Amino acid sequence: MSISNIRSRFPFYDNPGVLYLDSAATTQKPDSVIRAVQDYLRQVANPGRSSYPLAESIRHRIEEVRAQTARFFGANDPDSIIFTAGCTSALNLLALGLRDTLAPGDEVLVHRNDHKACILPWMHFPEVNIVEYAVNPFNGTIDGADLLAKISKKTRIVVLTHSNNIYGVLNPIREISRAIPDNCFVIVDGAQSAGHCPVNVSEIGADAFACSGHKMFSLEGVGIVWTSNRLRSLLRPVQFGGGSHPFEPGTINATGIISFGAALSFLEEVGLDAIDKHIHTLTRYGVDQLSALGCIDFLPGFAYDKTQRPTGIVSFRVPGLSSVDLAYQLAQKRIYVRAGSHCSSGSEAALDSVRISLHVYNTTDELDILTDALRCSIAS
Ligand code: ALA
Repeated sequence: MSISNIRSRFPFYDNPGVLYLDSAATTQKPDSVIRAVQDYLRQVANPGRSSYPLAESIRHRIEEVRAQTARFFGANDPDSIIFTAGCTSALNLLALGLRDTLAPGDEVLVHRNDHKACILPWMHFPEVNIVEYAVNPFNGTIDGADLLAKISKKTRIVVLTHSNNIYGVLNPIREISRAIPDNCFVIVDGAQSAGHCPVNVSEIGADAFACSGHKMFSLEGVGIVWTSNRLRSLLRPVQFGGGSHPFEPGTINATGIISFGAALSFLEEVGLDAIDKHIHTLTRYGVDQLSALGCIDFLPGFAYDKTQRPTGIVSFRVPGLSSVDLAYQLAQKRIYVRAGSHCSSGSEAALDSVRISLHVYNTTDELDILTDALRCSIAS
């Protein structure tokens, strides 16, 4: 499928004139995902509970999506994939499920401008010390030297974000993981990289990789976490109920999982290399156009370092203008962006910005319209 006619696959664009530049918050849904959900909802049953053929066929389908997910992320074993309610839910499962492995005074390394879900679950454990590592203030990548310097004999967990949801460039997870001692678990938040570029969990050297379905074209309420054997062998269930899967108790979100399978098929049909390339081209174009306005104050990221691989996110401020007001003015022109702190609890630098986030359906024409709209707002 060519990127150039991809928009015809998204019913969102049946409504012309709306610019959706907020895919880091959630993506629009392609026709194939909508169809898969509608087809499933015509005849449902509870997989894993009842044993008549319809229920069995749905159970089988869930396991097919688990195997598809493992293949999609380069995992060898479908059992390494746990379905969750999303990335936040996956990161909470990891924190709560690993708590028994932590002793008083043990340290968890985080970066303060990462998504709250990377940090807050650990803050609920009074026995654990949170240690913060730095990012490069120029391009927003993890400062590997600072991170390694912060590792001590007490470090047990290192939380890395593959692509921060404000800075929007890929971190070299493999290089960083390799340098982290073997007795630490490396957990990766992949919410803003999954579905944007190829990800191979067997190569990144981490113990867990979590992501949300709704940021990669499926429904909300579904996500996954891949775990290494050694992490999974120590992970304790944190919710209890019926069912045979220790980490998926209760009636499983079959609708969400089926939508996730359809979303993965869509991503494979388009091709992750093509998507990655498109996002890269668009981000470069967007940054160039915004830079030409002359008064844009970019947050760290691709705008300052074009050698990085962008994930479609560009965050900025306009001096003298509130970001929330600016986003409101854009929304009046049917240009949808996010403004504010973007689920970060971190430093002032992240607390007020406009964020555009691009995906496979966005175009350079849209970025021209955005730039013109910003020019008007700035001039008025
Ligand atoms: N975490 C999502 C975002 O960055 C909702 O917008």
